[in-house]
Amino acid sequence: MIQPVFITRVFRLGLAAIGSLSLLGATTTPALAQARNQVVNVYSGRHYNTDKELYAQFTRQTGIRVNLIEGKDDEMIERLRREGANSPADVLVTVDAARLIRAQEMNLFRPINSAALNRDVPANLRDPNGHWFALTRRARPVMVNPAQVNPNLIRTYGDLTRKELSGKLCMRDRSSVYSQSLTADVLQRAGKATTERWLKGMVANVKQPFFTSDTTMVRAVGQGECGATVANTYYLARLLNSDKATDKANARKVRVVWVNPTHVNVTGGGVTRSSGNPEGARRLLEFLSSPTAGEGYAAANNEYPVKGWGNNPTLRNFGTFTASPVTIQQLGQRNREAVQLMQQAGWK
Ligand SMILES: [Fe+2]
Repeated sequence: MIQPVFITRVFRLGLAAIGSLSLLGATTTPALAQARNQVVNVYSGRHYNTDKELYAQFTRQTGIRVNLIEGKDDEMIERLRREGANSPADVLVTVDAARLIRAQEMNLFRPINSAALNRDVPANLRDPNGHWFALTRRARPVMVNPAQVNPNLIRTYGDLTRKELSGKLCMRDRSSVYSQSLTADVLQRAGKATTERWLKGMVANVKQPFFTSDTTMVRAVGQGECGATVANTYYLARLLNSDKATDKANARKVRVVWVNPTHVNVTGGGVTRSSGNPEGARRLLEFLSSPTAGEGYAAANNEYPVKGWGNNPTLRNFGTFTASPVTIQQLGQRNREAVQLMQQAGWK
């Protein structure tokens, strides 16, 4: 008699366990879904402490937590591609038009339709189909050391071919996406033949070797080792605000020359194809591109907001510029041809 009762008890316990498990199952799915809606995983090529404050602000406003996964831009794109549909990423943030278009061509973004993003991000700074949106602008003007090169000689990038700059022009290497996008900009505006002539004349003026860092290049202009260069303004802004007295003093000798038009690139982001929380991801992009948060996101790296000039005092001192009419999409699409022309012209 004892045994059957025992068996029955075990059996009942078993049923109870199965029952509670299935109950758990019934409630687990919505609970997990809810948890997933409360976090946005961001793969980011940016790494500034002030970004984290902005993400915390977003969490306070929306209840959505931001889980930041940082790495080098190309590595984050490669990781996203490798993980495919299983990637935990909801948002990819990366710099440069060429990378945004590359990620789009790899089918890593999903198109999103957002009235807020369409309102806050100018049409030339976003994908027409909503795959990616600019979050900040970065300008790449000419910079000169007036003791070496007369700033009045330079009105356009075309003037970088002038014989007065011979042996005094310092440029970033060809592998830099900054150099590639600058060339793509000229190519889109001037066409192939003019760009080939421009590249040839400019490369002939370059003081070898080509630089692998904007920071050392801008420093070299301040030190008078180079007379002129083309660099993103945030590098000069960083040196001007440096704790190092020598960097500061050097940077003060560098003059920004706003060539007309000036090449503009972006930091941009999009919602990933794999996102388990596209709604939260869209809300984060809306937040980062909004006039208030966008100002902070741009200021973190001395960049310009997507609209206007921002309130950064260092950038204000540089003055304003006429941005190139070339769209970010065109920059990305022209990248391959630009690199080919650079190579042919001997841009190392
Ligand atoms: Fe940079």
